[in-house]
Amino acid sequence: MTVRPMRSADRVWAADVMAASEPWLTLGRGRADALKLLRNRRKQCFLVRSGGERAGFLVLDLHGPLGGYIQTIGVAPEMRGRGVGSAALAWAEAHIFKTHRNVLLCVSSFNRGAQRLYRRAGYEVVGRLRDYVVAGHDEILLRKTLGPLSRSSSQRTRRTTERNRRQRKPL
Ligand SMILES: CC(C)(COP(=O)(O)OP(=O)(O)OC[C@H]1O[C@@H](n2cnc3c(N)ncnc32)[C@H](O)[C@@H]1OP(=O)(O)O)[C@@H](O)C(=O)NCCC(=O)NCCS
Repeated sequence: MTVRPMRSADRVWAADVMAASEPWLTLGRGRADALKLLRNRRKQCFLVRSGGERAGFLVLDLHGPLGGYIQTIGVAPEMRGRGVGSAALAWAEAHIFKTHRNVLLCVSSFNRGAQRLYRRAGYEVVGRLRDYVVAGHDEILLRKTLGPLSRSSSQRTRRTTERNRRQRKPL
């Protein structure tokens, strides 16, 4: 699997996949919405290739208040169930964890397959956004973390003490 930033034609391809697939059908997100998202310059859009073919896509938002957000992950229907989605998820996490301590994402309450995938990948449910996109279906907020944003004060004191001892400085 390889991942590279999307080009113009990739955005059209990904929008076509989204417009024809769950969960976007139930969520009422059509091709125009998908294209708008994929052309949004605040998002990072990546094409996932497998065996030299377009296989899937990722839309990441690294500007959110809580961490890096995986806004969209999708695999072309004919490429599903072969590990592409899991590998793309792992790649997105590694990319986000270079600069953030948390990865967040939402999965629709009816999207049981994707929920299994995220559970296997170690995501924790941290919230439920009721009737968020459409009435009758919730968005489940998931989180994977490297740990707290800041070290605790006791950890900081311990580290300073150790550093001072190494440098033979009086405390
Ligand atoms: C969810 C998705 C990205 C997973 O990609 P994938 O390449 O099929 O995933 P993998 O082969 O690495 O893993 C397969 C697992 O994905 C999940 N999955 C979800 N929908 C699936 C589908 N239509 N076909 C196969 N697997 C699917 C399952 O958990 C499956 O494993 P399991 O059923 O044995 O528990 C892909 O199925 C997809 O694009 N689905 C439609 C869009 C979507 O739901 N995106 C996530 C929005 S939060």
